[in-house]
Amino acid sequence: MDFDQNVLEELRRRVTMPGDPHKINTEIFSLMLWYRTKLLENLLFHGRVVDNKIAVMNGPFKDLILQLPCNAGSLLPMVLGCYEHELHPFVAEAIHRNYKHVVNVGCGDGYYTVGMAMRMPQTQFSGYDLNPKAQVGCKAVAALNNVADRVHVGGEFRGEDFTKLPPKDTLVICDIEGGEDELLDPGKFPALKQMDVIVELHEVYKPGVTQRLKDRFATTHNFTLVPHGPKIVKLPIQLQGMSEVDEFLFCHEGRGGPTPWGIIIQK
Ligand SMILES: C[S@@+](CC[C@H](N)C(=O)[O-])C[C@H]1O[C@@H](n2cnc3c(N)ncnc32)[C@H](O)[C@@H]1O
Repeated sequence: MDFDQNVLEELRRRVTMPGDPHKINTEIFSLMLWYRTKLLENLLFHGRVVDNKIAVMNGPFKDLILQLPCNAGSLLPMVLGCYEHELHPFVAEAIHRNYKHVVNVGCGDGYYTVGMAMRMPQTQFSGYDLNPKAQVGCKAVAALNNVADRVHVGGEFRGEDFTKLPPKDTLVICDIEGGEDELLDPGKFPALKQMDVIVELHEVYKPGVTQRLKDRFATTHNFTLVPHGPKIVKLPIQLQGMSEVDEFLFCHEGRGGPTPWGIIIQK
């Protein structure tokens, strides 16, 4: 059975399922979203995937080689280079600051860890992720992009680990689905007082986390809140002129609610 037929079968199964119509409709919507996204991936990847590898086409990590399948993040915007475009100016600034060490907590397959390592040849990197598949992916992506000698990959990162990092000139990039509330506490982990931080804030899981982080860092750091902006995508010429919904899906990041970022820089 081919892909379309399989999805149609799954749709029929869900349509005829007894249960709460709202829940079933929502599940069908998610299935159709996934289906359409897969079709767009096929269109974009056609002729661009070689040996399960694809190069990022634009943005701050242009030419970064990604390995498929990816275990984290949203593949279409990552490949197109518009993933989390709101952060692009801050990524550029971080690259310019030329930190000695960048630690990426929740590194996934290394989009940020390896992408930044490519742009910062003097900097040491460490990427941590609980997911063993992401750890393997991040190591592989580091090797593919010739930065494995400067990228250490590990599993769980705990607050105590901040003391093992160089005490100065360290940037922390953190995206751990609400875990930032426990981790980013300079009261408990004083080493953080001398580090800069870029954090994705998961109010959806930890209501009030933004204000708590602002308060905790208020005496030592400036805090810039970066909200979501409108989606912007530059599609290759062959994919231009598609429907508005498809254009949106190319840069859809699948967020369940607002996840702004905090840019927390030492005063
Ligand atoms: C949303 S994903 C990160 C995606 C990544 N920032 C990207 O854009 O490619 C969040 C990841 O955080 C990891 N995680 C959560 N808590 C962690 C911790 N304390 N140490 C290391 N990884 C953690 C999870 O395993 C998950 O893969």
